[in-house]
Amino acid sequence: MPRVSGKLVKQAARVSPLLPYLLRANPSLAQAQQELKWIQAELPKHQWKNAVKRRNAYEPLQYILESQPFGSLDIICEKGVLIPRWETEEWCLKLSSVLSILGKKNLSILDSCTGTGCIPLLLNYELNQLANLNSHIRAFDISSDAYRLSKRNHQAYSSLHPSSATNIKFIQANLFSESIVSHVGIQCADLITSNPPYIPAHHYHKSVGLDGISRSVREYEPAEALIGHMEFYEALINNLVKPLSASGFVFELGYQEQADYVYRMLKDTEEWRVGVLKDSASNIRCVLGWKSNSPMRVLGQLCSSIYS
Ligand SMILES: C[S@@+](CC[C@H](N)C(=O)[O-])C[C@H]1O[C@@H](n2cnc3c(N)ncnc32)[C@H](O)[C@@H]1O
Repeated sequence: MPRVSGKLVKQAARVSPLLPYLLRANPSLAQAQQELKWIQAELPKHQWKNAVKRRNAYEPLQYILESQPFGSLDIICEKGVLIPRWETEEWCLKLSSVLSILGKKNLSILDSCTGTGCIPLLLNYELNQLANLNSHIRAFDISSDAYRLSKRNHQAYSSLHPSSATNIKFIQANLFSESIVSHVGIQCADLITSNPPYIPAHHYHKSVGLDGISRSVREYEPAEALIGHMEFYEALINNLVKPLSASGFVFELGYQEQADYVYRMLKDTEEWRVGVLKDSASNIRCVLGWKSNSPMRVLGQLCSSIYS
């Protein structure tokens, strides 16, 4: 647990009596002050004390404020559903810009493991803004909490962008189900996207401070949204990419071996190329695949390396 010195607490209390409560979750006074500004700007005054106390118990700020900016969108967040991350936002924005060059009028996209719905909503928004494209999007999640929240986010998005939100549908479904394709209700898709659970169980259970995941994530975010490994990538390829004759995919991941696994699944089929994208912290972040004779070959532009 990070140690907070008495000197720092006194310094914080001189600025505001609420500030010391934010020091446990924030390593510096400047960060704590920034959080206090957000709390005061976004919540009514009578909720400030309760908000800083929840933060003192390591609850993520996004659950307290009930939202997270994601590109130009504000995504509603609720306990029980994973908070969208900057790494996901970053690749979604890059993906939108290469898809907009493509200019395909009726691009169809399926997003698996959609959580709040942040990926399909941002892709839809950006494709509209950048190229006036109204894509057809389906998205699904196994969790009933995620399903409800994705519908809430869709509703909020529809009220702000009524003309672009018409071709998006959220469904509750299991990626591992044999009938997933009929459940989703489409015969084909150009592109499959997903940010599946990808933290191996042994890594998730390592203690905090021993390179395990942070206390706030483990105590407050759903383990079912985080723990997973090769089985998800296998199901994405076998249950979605192949039966829907998709010509491209983008899957978030956390480990090189997950990208290698996807490459090995496709390397004997001549039509597929596979590459990886790194995030701006230089960590491997996505595995991408495209059929080399299809318009989805634009995905190659996003790759820092391509398997050969
Ligand atoms: C890492 S979270 C990603 C959420 C969201 N796409 C994002 O980027 O913030 C993974 C999501 O996968 C969902 N999930 C886990 N197992 C699933 C399954 N078998 N079928 C469909 N969704 C699943 C979880 O409920 C969770 O919402």
